[in-house]
Amino acid sequence: MTIPQPPALPRIIGHRGAMGHAPENTLAGIGKAAAMSVRWVEFDVKLTADNQIILMHDDDLNRTTDGKGPVARATLEEIRRLDAGRWFSADYTGEKVPTLDEAMAALAERGMGANVEIKPCKGRAAETGAAVAKALANRWMNGPQPPFVSSFSTASLAAARDAAPQVPRALLTLVYLPGWGAKMEQLGCASFHVLDRLITERRVRQIREAGYRPLAFTVDNGARAKELLSWGVESVITSYPDRMPKD
Ligand code: G3P
Ligand code: MG
Repeated sequence: MTIPQPPALPRIIGHRGAMGHAPENTLAGIGKAAAMSVRWVEFDVKLTADNQIILMHDDDLNRTTDGKGPVARATLEEIRRLDAGRWFSADYTGEKVPTLDEAMAALAERGMGANVEIKPCKGRAAETGAAVAKALANRWMNGPQPPFVSSFSTASLAAARDAAPQVPRALLTLVYLPGWGAKMEQLGCASFHVLDRLITERRVRQIREAGYRPLAFTVDNGARAKELLSWGVESVITSYPDRMPKD
């Protein structure tokens, strides 16, 4: 299988937009990242009860909106009535939960790129992976910065690969186990996104020697980012772009 590759990535990728500075996974967050000269952002997506793709990290609405209950039981129309900014700061009152298409349009307008993290609600891994990959393949792969997907869920990545093999994929991990290479190969992933504290210079070398692109998350310390980048990590995903070394 030829592995689809994202374009060359910048050293800094904004986490959930720029979640240290603006409400996560919102258009305001994308705007904030842009204002901070961030060229790519990571955000999380999942399906609503009526199978619409929205930006949201948690499986329920409680933390990042003024709603309550599981995302998987709420329709897009219900979710659109919620405020997704006020919890962060009164300055962001009125911010809505965006759809994937709205986020992609906001990025395209600014010439920015997206690492779309597939974050399925429990029990919806395969359908979420397939839906996200198809949506990106159908509408968003032709710009100058074509997006790529990532996930902790191998079931989501396998479904994404089967539904739209041309959309580049990345595997996320919170553990560094010997079987990672086999998983990457099986899922046809281009990049391996590893939890910051698991990364050593030797592991970066291993990933690169295996032909994969190492990325680190979530890195909020500038000195640590500098170290990771000096070892050959391609990009660090950060909630605080302002703390990162300048290009
Ligand atoms: O994609 C990197 C990072 O976002 C993974 O963790 O929980 O912030 O989505 P989380
Ligand atoms: Mg994420």
